Amino acid sequence: MIKVKNLSTAFEEKIVHNNISFEVKEGEIFGILGGSGSGKSVLLRQIIMLDEIQKGKIEVFDKDINKLSMKEREQMKKDWGILFQFGALFSSLNVIENIGIMLKENTKLPQELIDDIAYTRLKMVGLDASVGLLYPEELSGGMKKRVALARALALDPKILFLDEPTSGLDPLSAKAFDTLISELRELLGLTVVIITHELNTIKNVLDRFLILSDSKLAIVGTYEDAINANDAVINRFLKL
Ligand SMILES: Nc1ncnc2c1ncn2[C@@H]1O[C@H](COP(=O)(O)OP(=O)(O)O)[C@@H](O)[C@H]1O
Ligand SMILES: [Mg+2]
Repeated sequence: MIKVKNLSTAFEEKIVHNNISFEVKEGEIFGILGGSGSGKSVLLRQIIMLDEIQKGKIEVFDKDINKLSMKEREQMKKDWGILFQFGALFSSLNVIENIGIMLKENTKLPQELIDDIAYTRLKMVGLDASVGLLYPEELSGGMKKRVALARALALDPKILFLDEPTSGLDPLSAKAFDTLISELRELLGLTVVIITHELNTIKNVLDRFLILSDSKLAIVGTYEDAINANDAVINRFLKL
């Protein structure tokens, strides 16, 4: 689904990625782990074509994303949903309008149908229809994340990208959100890429993950692989 080949990124003197390569397979929940400032968000932004690829190559759906025409880029962007780290909802729009905005901007569907789809997405993320007419300021942190997730799912994406989706949530809400991601993967046949700086709460949800450390990949593999590696850097993330 996603192939990153020999990617190197530097900002002035600071090397962020030093020749990293990995793949995300179709249908898996893949984690991007690393400490603060380790280059997780930059990596994600390069995959979704918001940041320039300085060196190396990224393929999505078997296509080199640097070789796409404008039209192909726009088409590909409709095939993924994104929940940004600080992905705020529009405070002047109610929940249903917030979810529907993606459909409004990207399709010519009539408003009535957009609202219908928005309500199905709301249900998908485990929220009651009565939440639909509330405004963001009336929602708890966990509910806001769910609405942002519903918005990311609006266009029925093939890949879902989540940048630290549970940061700022209490442990119970975070766990419930991770479980929801797992259920939606099954239900919708999604491929999911999740950025996180914390492995413990999410390890049961991830099929495989990588750890960015010192601008290289400390590991790409399963939780079991990480345990078996018996490596000091990896163990810090495993809290062993
Ligand atoms: N556009 C940019 N210009 C200069 N430095 C940047 C830019 N984007 C990110 N960086 C730096 O790259 C490093 C990795 O950033 P980031 O990917 O956001 O880290 P994180 O792993 O916390 O998500 C940080 O040191 C950050 O300051
Ligand atoms: Mg980040």
